[in-house]
Amino acid sequence: MYESIENFSEVVPLLLTLVCAFAGYAAGRLARRPKRRTVRRSARRILAALALAAVVALGEAAFVAGMWTHGWPFAANRVVVALPPVVAAAVAVAVMSVPRLARVVRGARREADAPPGHTLRAAAGDPRLVVPVQSAAVAALLCFYTVFALRPVPPYTGDVLAVDGAFAVAVVALWLRQVRRLRRDTPPRIAARLLRAVTVLGVVVLLLAGYVAQGLRASRLPAHYDMGTSTVVDDGMTGMRMAGEESVPHVSVADLTGDTAGTPDETFTLTARRARIRLGSGRTANVWAWNGQVPGPELVVHEGDLVQVTVRNHVPGIAVSAHWHGLDVPNAEDGVPGVTQNAVRKGGSFVYRFRVHQVGTFWYHSHQQAFDQVDRGLFGALVVLPKGERRPVGDITVVAHYWKALGGVVTLGRADTRTTRVVRPGTRVRLRLVNTSSENVDDTAPPEFGLTGTAFRVAAIDGTDLHEPGLLVSGTRVALGAGGRADLTFTMPDHAVRLTDLVGPRASLVLSPGGTDVPTPPVARGPLFDPTHYGTPAPTPFGADSRFDRRFTLTLDDGPGFYDGRFLFRPTIDGHVFPDTPMLMVRRGDLVEVTFVDRGHNDHPMHLHGHHALVLRHDGRPVTGSPWWTDTLDVRPGETYTVAFRADNPGIWMDHCHNLRHAKAGMIMHLGYEGVTTPYRAGSATGNQPE
Ligand code: C2O
Ligand code: CU
Repeated sequence: MYESIENFSEVVPLLLTLVCAFAGYAAGRLARRPKRRTVRRSARRILAALALAAVVALGEAAFVAGMWTHGWPFAANRVVVALPPVVAAAVAVAVMSVPRLARVVRGARREADAPPGHTLRAAAGDPRLVVPVQSAAVAALLCFYTVFALRPVPPYTGDVLAVDGAFAVAVVALWLRQVRRLRRDTPPRIAARLLRAVTVLGVVVLLLAGYVAQGLRASRLPAHYDMGTSTVVDDGMTGMRMAGEESVPHVSVADLTGDTAGTPDETFTLTARRARIRLGSGRTANVWAWNGQVPGPELVVHEGDLVQVTVRNHVPGIAVSAHWHGLDVPNAEDGVPGVTQNAVRKGGSFVYRFRVHQVGTFWYHSHQQAFDQVDRGLFGALVVLPKGERRPVGDITVVAHYWKALGGVVTLGRADTRTTRVVRPGTRVRLRLVNTSSENVDDTAPPEFGLTGTAFRVAAIDGTDLHEPGLLVSGTRVALGAGGRADLTFTMPDHAVRLTDLVGPRASLVLSPGGTDVPTPPVARGPLFDPTHYGTPAPTPFGADSRFDRRFTLTLDDGPGFYDGRFLFRPTIDGHVFPDTPMLMVRRGDLVEVTFVDRGHNDHPMHLHGHHALVLRHDGRPVTGSPWWTDTLDVRPGETYTVAFRADNPGIWMDHCHNLRHAKAGMIMHLGYEGVTTPYRAGSATGNQPE
């Protein structure tokens, strides 16, 4: 709904521009009409066009009002920046142009075939008649440019000055031009007009070409960059400044390893290799896979374990890393090339060591050229069981992946079709659902999963248990953005249960009480699970009423622009793309509040490394059910989320959209702790490409 309103509100100003341009052109030529009859006809046409323009403008106002119903941040750039010139022009047209046009129509009524007399000419060429109509066209064009391309973000001061200034200059120029035209009795010759038109066109084309060339060049990513210093920071208190200006003792990312003394409780080796895998349907595919498996081997560890993972790379031509998605490990173990380590080249290795303090469903993936590498198979699940517990039989991990590299195949585990698994009735089942996709099939909404055949509970989100989760009816759909996890629990009934990836419903997991000839439940078509009012409240270390040390508001949007030498529709954070996105700067111990406003057309699963955030509000309304902790929060167009976290894990942490196509197009920012520096460098010349 929001996206369609937004789309209309972007296109309607273009329509308004066309209508007003027609009226403005006709108004400029009105005084040169050869006969009274043609003057009259033209004046009437202008009036009709203006009436149409009024209707179109009211339509735009209605769309902006529609966006406003989602909250002021969704309409602010239009109300504050884009619309004032349009309103000013409309008022001028109404009080200056329209009465004069009506008078011209009346005055031209007599002796229709006679040439217009001097008075009629003067009235028809009056700048007070002509210029408001022409400036309406300019205002509409500026409005279109503002909402479609400029897309201002708060504070709007600079944009208001620029847009209103441009409008004022245009009005003055049009006025002077009309006065000059009026003074000249004979219109310029056709050749002179043609020459002028060609010159104007030439200048416009040249300016445009220069703008594009400069934009493409300036958008090239630097070959080297240092996330510790070469970035603008937002400290959530005083505004923007450069990183590295803090007067606190410096500490290197490389030293933020946590306590890793002792013998590891669990040791794994993950080797990235090229592999040819066979999917459930028999289809084969060439992938990059951890230990030759897709998904990679499931790493099962226990709370409190010291885990050691050696990552090796046997894939020629690429470097890799491993990031422990959702595990709040010490910064040096986070696996982000160019920030926390150097990427592992072919033949190389890297040893990760960290102690696990969480329990739940997580996953791991390469964070080097992540869009491509995750898409092609370098991902796997990671499950942390409570201390001392054995894994129950009904505890099943389901890794869901949408393979762009394989032309859009959807798999659950290795299966791209229906698979059946026997589960005895009465078994307590926990389906650990992980969405490892590199991007969403639908850019405007997260994919959904449906469970039919039994009522169930969502026991955990992003690896954190929910408090007293209620029973959901069979057929309930659960949305899960890329990178997100949900644990679904139920007691196995004496008939089949079906989990379906609703994006590619061919991929289903059927749990059968025995045999394969039981009737399969239908695909889910029930209500959509809403985590904001689910379960019951429980104590949290902080909440909506806490005193926050830092507050940030991030406007997510998308529009046309340049990125890394290309012109594309790019997702933006506060109007910027990486590395120009501001680094959120905090101090250890701070309580931080972040509000996400998704003002654009696309859905963004926002993932913060190294921390878990408590969701406080959704669309301004408090979360009333169970505390909802997240590491990958899906924010849809038209939505606002406010989250809070404690800055208790020093480092330089990526905070990015886990629709990795968006991350690759610049939707990356960092959370930085004052004084933390990195010895690593990212950029094309360094071999480290964390996106
Ligand atoms: Cu799942 Cu920055 O990653
Ligand atoms: Cu995104």
